[in-house]
Amino acid sequence: MSFTSVVDFSLFKTRREQIIDFLKKANSSLDNGAVIIFSDFEDERFVFRQESSFYYLTGVNEPGAVLVFFLDGRQYLYLPNYGGIRGRWTSSDIKIDNNVEGLAKKLGFDEIKYLGASVNSFSFNSIFSKEKYFNFLFDVENFLNNHENREVFTFLDLENNQRYFTQINMYKNLMDFYPDIANITRDIAPLVHHMRRFKSEVEIDSIYKAVQITNIAHDAAAKVIAPGRIEHEVQAIVESVFTQTGALRPAFPSIIATGKNTTVLHYTKRDQELKPGDLVVVDIGAEYGYYAADITRTYPVTGEFTERQREVYNIVLAAQNYVESIAKPGMFLNNKNEPEKSLNHLAIKFLEDYNVSKYFAHGIGHFLGLDVHDVGDNTYPLAPGDIFTIEPGLYIPDENLGIRIEDDFLMVEDGAVCLSFDLPKNCDDIEKLMKNSSS
Ligand code: GLY
Ligand code: MN
Repeated sequence: MSFTSVVDFSLFKTRREQIIDFLKKANSSLDNGAVIIFSDFEDERFVFRQESSFYYLTGVNEPGAVLVFFLDGRQYLYLPNYGGIRGRWTSSDIKIDNNVEGLAKKLGFDEIKYLGASVNSFSFNSIFSKEKYFNFLFDVENFLNNHENREVFTFLDLENNQRYFTQINMYKNLMDFYPDIANITRDIAPLVHHMRRFKSEVEIDSIYKAVQITNIAHDAAAKVIAPGRIEHEVQAIVESVFTQTGALRPAFPSIIATGKNTTVLHYTKRDQELKPGDLVVVDIGAEYGYYAADITRTYPVTGEFTERQREVYNIVLAAQNYVESIAKPGMFLNNKNEPEKSLNHLAIKFLEDYNVSKYFAHGIGHFLGLDVHDVGDNTYPLAPGDIFTIEPGLYIPDENLGIRIEDDFLMVEDGAVCLSFDLPKNCDDIEKLMKNSSS
């Protein structure tokens, strides 16, 4: 099985238009407003992957770009000026050097412009200079001078600025040129994060494909797990399935953890041997069409759980089933102000009844989307269109025992639909799956 993703750029234009409509209504006294958002930059150690909110609004997987659109409806994309050199070095779809009008039309912009003077190189770093950003700065200055009552909208998200580290730094560069901008800048991260929470059909389809690919990878992992294997051998099988089936990359570093490592939540060293009697936590997710899956299973190295492992496993599974059954619109993933409706608080309560809540070392789940730990305001209740994980786990370092079970869910009117439903989950089915490998 293999999947191929096709990008429909009109979706991204529609999102920009929704933002324009929203901001116009919320700021009706303004003469005009500009949305200015900087993309990420590339690093030669990694294949470039766009910052997720920039991608959400453009569909453009190019480094060093700047998105500018105005409340009067005009929409522009600025790209670095490589002096015609980049095309010989990279396989990017975005080639500004020929047929600029055609590219603008395809991407849904009024115009695509060079940021400034040519850098005569295939790469463009984030050092901000007047020359490199000349055209962009000229247009920003025009906007500021031509309207008295204007505002600029961007992502500041200062509380959580890991997410927009590059964007915020680039915006600070802009403020160095025009210090007064600070007084008229508004953060639209909450607005875009709210839009990103509720998935359209196309997004659900991408996540479902990422889930299917991840299921195939789990099946392959289950079949290769055996005493004597090294954690990274399991990783190799998982990630080769991703590549074979059309996923561009893992949505996060694959967690393949055995023995005591099962109790390290984001373990990524992967250099330990699988030993009889131990477990292996396999927490993996493919990224397909820019969207993430995130599914965890815990396997016994020998293919058979011990009695103690089964006992703990069944508590984790019961906790997941319980949370799935109460996950309905109107509940919250994690909201300390509404503990009676908060899945995280109710999961802890459930585990307290078994006297094991002290071994539950993380939250019950997170939103899933363009990012594995996707954006979204936890104080806004779950609603149809949300996609999220339910992932209880118990971690007992003294026993080298860590067990996590994680599945991906779509919220609909009636409750949570499990997208990863066809992956074996209870102890008997996991043992059966692993037995099939050796026969
Ligand atoms: N799959 C890793 C995590 O949810 O943190
Ligand atoms: Mn997760």
